[in-house]
Amino acid sequence: MEDELQGMEEAVPERDSDSFRDEGEWAAGPVDAGDPPPAAEQQVVPPTTPPTAEAALTEPSEVGDEMEPSEDVDEAPLNAGEDEESPEASGDGRMRAVDLIAPTRLDFLAEREADAEQPVKTAEVFVFANQKGGVAKTTTTLNLAVAFAESGYRVLCIDLDPQGNLTMSQGIDPDKVEKSLYDVLVNDMPISEIIVKREIDIAVASIDLAGAEIAMSTKIGRERSLEKALKEVAGDYDFVCIDTPPSLGLLTINALTAANKVIVPVQCEYLSMRGLVQLQNTLKMIQENLNPDVRIEGILPTMLDSRTIHAKEAVEILEENFGDLVFQSRIKKAIKFAEAPVKGASVLKYDSTSSAANYYRDLAKEVLSHGSA
Ligand SMILES: Nc1ncnc2c1ncn2[C@@H]1O[C@H](COP(=O)(O)OP(=O)(O)OP(=O)(O)O)[C@@H](O)[C@H]1O
Ligand SMILES: [Mg+2]
Repeated sequence: MEDELQGMEEAVPERDSDSFRDEGEWAAGPVDAGDPPPAAEQQVVPPTTPPTAEAALTEPSEVGDEMEPSEDVDEAPLNAGEDEESPEASGDGRMRAVDLIAPTRLDFLAEREADAEQPVKTAEVFVFANQKGGVAKTTTTLNLAVAFAESGYRVLCIDLDPQGNLTMSQGIDPDKVEKSLYDVLVNDMPISEIIVKREIDIAVASIDLAGAEIAMSTKIGRERSLEKALKEVAGDYDFVCIDTPPSLGLLTINALTAANKVIVPVQCEYLSMRGLVQLQNTLKMIQENLNPDVRIEGILPTMLDSRTIHAKEAVEILEENFGDLVFQSRIKKAIKFAEAPVKGASVLKYDSTSSAANYYRDLAKEVLSHGSA
């Protein structure tokens, strides 16, 4: 072993300690702990591990260039494992064999191997459903999706409503769309072919989606068409957010079959308990026959006018009947929600600092705190 170490030491070229310092980013000096640098600055700090495992094994002198010096200059024994001696501290500016085979590099290799064994993470699929019309399904789908994206998640929205409101609210005219979810559901077109990039990625609807339920009705596995289509892109996204039409027909059943979690927007003015019970029954049928894992993530009070007693009572009734299933977040009434789609934008883009935008940022935090992603 000693002979090997000696051999490796000799193989490393001598370096001038000043030039070593000039090349290293760390030569710029320590960062003031009380004043953290912006993210862009943080990114230029060199990695403490070599860029590739091969480099660690075959290019020792370059590995030395990547090294970050240890603040602790005490000489560590070869098998102590924790501290590396900095090139400067060694006095002669040479890399020592112990630096080349330090356990941190071996840890790095082990981490790489462990990463390779991890299964590819697949997207969490949210469906926004309520067979009652005009309760803010589309508004919630888009704005929550954009709030996720703002937090750095990769998000795909799916417009499963023949009205095409989600598609329109990202500035795309459903009447001019050539390929849409109709082709995916009825003709098995890959979903990647109908995804358009806007604030978030969106699988678009067209008006002919209205005919999809009838066209699919004779298809074997008709309830699973969307689930099947999503497999192609499930590894590309953290979240898939599906907007549904105001009905419990085959399109909504496809969404519930493909989903992990259901978010139920409820307009507090015209609260319909009967409607929610009907939705729960449909979900039970899906759980028993098609998708045992799907569950309600939460019931979301929307369009809340907190000045009225009626709205307060409506939320109380919701909480009495559904307890913890009711989100803590509240989406209050705001004119910005009607204005933003006209501009083809989410409220978060249309007026980023508005309270309306923050309602959905708060909802995103609450959903993420439930353990998603
Ligand atoms: N918090 C809010 N305050 C005021 N207006 C809102 C709010 N949320 C949504 N709206 C508006 O209410 C209308 C209905 O909202 P939305 O289209 O999202 O409902 P929906 O449930 O998707 O309707 P549908 O069942 O027809 O698909 C839209 O004009 C929207 O801009
Ligand atoms: Mg809608």
